[in-house]
Amino acid sequence: MTMTLIRLLTVALVGVASVLAKKPASSCPAVSNEGTPTGEFKNVSGIQIYHSYPGETANASNAILFISDIYGVPLLQNKLLADSLARAGYLVIFPDLFKGDAVPVSSPEGTLNLTEWRTRHPTEEIDSIVASTITYIRSELGVQRIGGVGYCFGGKYVPRFLADGKGIDVGFIAHPSGLLATEIQSIAGPISIAAGELDTAFNVTGRRAAEDILTAKNTTYQTTLYAGAPHGFAVRVDLNIPRQKYAKESSFVQAIRWFDAWL
Ligand SMILES: *[C@@H]1O[C@H](CO)[C@@H](O)[C@H](O)[C@H]1NC(C)=O
Ligand SMILES: *[C@@H]1O[C@H](CO)[C@@H](O)[C@H](O)[C@H]1NC(C)=O
Ligand SMILES: *[C@@H]1O[C@H](CO)[C@@H](O)[C@H](O)[C@H]1NC(C)=O
Ligand SMILES: *[C@@H]1O[C@H](CO)[C@@H](O)[C@H](O)[C@H]1NC(C)=O
Ligand SMILES: *[C@@H]1O[C@H](CO)[C@@H](O)[C@H](O)[C@H]1NC(C)=O
Repeated sequence: MTMTLIRLLTVALVGVASVLAKKPASSCPAVSNEGTPTGEFKNVSGIQIYHSYPGETANASNAILFISDIYGVPLLQNKLLADSLARAGYLVIFPDLFKGDAVPVSSPEGTLNLTEWRTRHPTEEIDSIVASTITYIRSELGVQRIGGVGYCFGGKYVPRFLADGKGIDVGFIAHPSGLLATEIQSIAGPISIAAGELDTAFNVTGRRAAEDILTAKNTTYQTTLYAGAPHGFAVRVDLNIPRQKYAKESSFVQAIRWFDAWL
């Protein structure tokens, strides 16, 4: 009788333990995919900058600079991603890199000439907006350390400003486009990279080259490859496809873990 009871109890406890082991910690931050953005826009010297505020317990001496894809501040998922980073405890500053000329996500195929659009937003122009936003974060918001997140188009600019003395201290990028080996070579702080198996803009050749450069430099880095993840997966995915949903959610946690550890 007693032995049976003990055995039953043991089975029950092992059951509870295995359930607990699978359950994510309740403090585990999550990315939101729908809802109303909670941040606000401010006109900072002519640039519209989306501000998303963390709770009162957040560390006031650091902040995250959000460098977006070509869909920019109008895209709901970008603002929700910024809000999600803020909910995880960081002040998030997200400038309109394109001065009202972001690519409309709903533009019918072929109506927008992307080549021409790119010539309207050359690297020097984006560099200048990123630099002035960094100055604003440090001088007007009194922030001491800046984490940079960059998605697609923005994935080129985090490495550029993670170079020595350029203003970003810790970086996270997902599926970067147009990223040059020289830009990876110039990285001077910790960098985490989320890569998609199906992304042709940052393919296996580019990822391995980046790993080789970062290893040779003894950079504190992480690269994570997500199976079945297409270009853009950390921002826009089909949530009905389990591998894409996992990639978006997990790359968000990857970013938070990175800043919690290194910023
Ligand atoms: C933003 O501020 C600048 C001056 O810094 C002003 O010229 C411009 O009209 C303002 N834009 C908007 C949309 O309020
Ligand atoms: C797109 O713009 C580029 C640069 O202005 C031009 O060379 C090209 O012909 C345009 N393509 C189309 C399909 O209009
Ligand atoms: C990756 O992209 C580069 C540049 O477009 C190309 O040269 C290379 O062959 C690609 N690698 C693979 C495995 O497709
Ligand atoms: C690499 O960096 C780590 C951490 O900064 C340091 O402890 C280690 O000595 C470095 N290794 C080499 C070979 O420089
Ligand atoms: C706040 O952030 C700064 C800069 O990232 C760091 O040096 C400091 O230790 C942090 N303070 C707390 C209480 O986490």
